[in-house]
Order: sequence, then structure tokens, then C-alpha cells
Amino acid sequence: MRAAAGRLAAAGVPSPRADAEELLAHALGSTRGALALAALRGDDGPSPDVRTAYAALVAARCARRPLQHLTGRAPFRGLELAVGPGVFVPRPETEGLAGAAVDAAREVERAEGRPAVVVDLCTGSGAVALAVAAEVPRARVVGVELSEDALAWARRNVDDLGVRPPLAGRPGGPVEVVAGDAGSALPELEGLVDVVVSNPPYIPPGAVPVDPEVREHDPGAALYGGGEDGLEVPRAVVARAAALLRPGGVVLVEHAEVQQPALLAVLAGPAWSGATGAVDLTGRPRWVRAARADGAAPAPPAAPR
Ligand SMILES: C[S@@+](CC[C@H](N)C(=O)[O-])C[C@H]1O[C@@H](n2cnc3c(N)ncnc32)[C@H](O)[C@@H]1O
Repeated sequence: MRAAAGRLAAAGVPSPRADAEELLAHALGSTRGALALAALRGDDGPSPDVRTAYAALVAARCARRPLQHLTGRAPFRGLELAVGPGVFVPRPETEGLAGAAVDAAREVERAEGRPAVVVDLCTGSGAVALAVAAEVPRARVVGVELSEDALAWARRNVDDLGVRPPLAGRPGGPVEVVAGDAGSALPELEGLVDVVVSNPPYIPPGAVPVDPEVREHDPGAALYGGGEDGLEVPRAVVARAAALLRPGGVVLVEHAEVQQPALLAVLAGPAWSGATGAVDLTGRPRWVRAARADGAAPAPPAAPR
């Protein structure tokens, strides 16, 4: 494992030791915790077959294939999501956004004594939708996704996790995932939704990510938000949220560090009240929140892409 960590460091992998441990645990069909225990006990080293599999995994990681594509799993708020080529790997930065959606849904259920209706636009692997369903078991959660490849991963995750959230040991309602454009999805839910949450694509066209894991393996449709500032899809999400939310319903949208003022300007319009920006765990501006204004004029349709 030390030798593997050295090779990973030389290849520029940002967390070589952690990745070396994660990949060995994966090759063994075990966990990093169990690995540490085995090392403490002085257990025998891995079999030749496991060593061969480990060498192949380390070589692939040195070629900067994402760790999560090699293990097939990505952690997100206590869930283990299946991920791979064709879907965006959920990031720890988005866990705060999902937590804000959980809080907003719980508040609806506390105040109104009924299950909250939550829509996750641009759901990708289903990470945010599934986290809300797991932590707010009575909520009805719908995820919307445009990419067929991503949709297949989301459906797999819903099958694996959606009907059995790991909290409280009791079944919750299944998450529904539908194909659609975030700018026009779910016309049947207009005016009925309590929380719209979204981590849409938002990178501007010129800001190509430096890390090969992102640049070469996250789908382009998951990264680039369109328009000169990358905010074409996020603006469409906000416009769609205005139509989907009931008065008082809450929208939460993730964005890049420099984009918070632009999105707060959108949310200063008559359809919204109480717009605020939030920071992630590293203190960087990361998402915006606003409430659908009571009796506001209907939002204009989203600009065509
Ligand atoms: C940054 S990824 C986020 C995925 C997931 N919400 C997460 O946080 O891990 C954005 C997702 O939006 C999808 N997407 C892009 N444009 C879309 C659109 N117009 N309508 C619906 N989904 C879209 C992409 O395919 C991708 O899965």
C-alpha cells in the first residue's frame, strides 16, 4: 500500500494515501477500517490474485480515472451511490445543499403536518433526491434528469436505495426519477411543490476543469451550464422553480464560488422573497435560497437553450 501511494503521488493524485487504502479495501472486498484492523493484528498480506487486481486498480488510478469509477461507489450523506461512466460523481460540497433541502422539507412537515413534496432538478445519480428521501422518509421526492446515461444510474440507485432508506429501520416512500428538461419538467406539479433543490451544471465555457478526473470523466452536460457565464441552465432552473413552487415554497440552487451575486440578482425579482446566499464547509459561497413570493406574478418562461 505504501508503494502504491508513492506511485499515485507521482501521478499527481491529490489524496494518494487515502486512495491507496480505498483501492486495496475494494480489491479485498473489504473496508478501510477493516484494513487498518488487519494491519494492527499483523494479518497475512493479500493473496496473489488480490495483488494482481490491486496493481490494475492502482495503474488505472495513476492514469487519473476517478476513484469512484474504480470502486463503483460514491459516498453522499451516509448513502453509498452507484456511479460510473456517464454520470456526475456527487461531491461533498453538495452535501450542504442537500442538508438545506432536508431542513426545508422537515420544516414543511413540522408546520403543516403533511408529507413534503420535493423536486430535485438535474438529479444526476439521484444523490440529492435520495438523501432527502432517506432523511425525510415521509416526503414525496421526484428527481428530473435530461441525460439518458445519467438517468440509468439514478434509476439503479433508486432501485438499490430508494425504497429502503437506511434511517429509522422502516421503509420510506420510493423516490421517483423522470426524464425531462429542468426548464419545463413536471407541468402536473405546478404550484404544488414545497421544495425545489438543484445542483445544475454551471461551469462557464472557458473554465475547463484542471483535474483530469473531472475534465475527462464527468459528462460535459453535467459540467457546463451554457451561456457566457455558465448560468443558462441555473437560470432556467430558477424560472422552473417559480412555476413549480406553491407560495412560500423554497428554492435551493448550487453554483460556483463567483456566481452567487448573479443568482441573488435573479432571485431579487418579484417572484421571490428573502433571497440569501450560503457557504459550504470550506467557507466558499456555494448555494442560494429563496422563498416563492405570495401572490407574485407568474415567472416568465425560461429562455430556450
Ligand atoms: C452537476 S451534475 C449534478 C448531479 C447531481 N444533482 C449531483 O449533485 O450529484 C448536473 C446534472 O444535470 C443534468 N442536466 C444538464 N442539463 C439539464 C437539463 N436541462 N435538464 C435536466 N437535467 C440536466 C446533467 O446531465 C447532470 O446529470
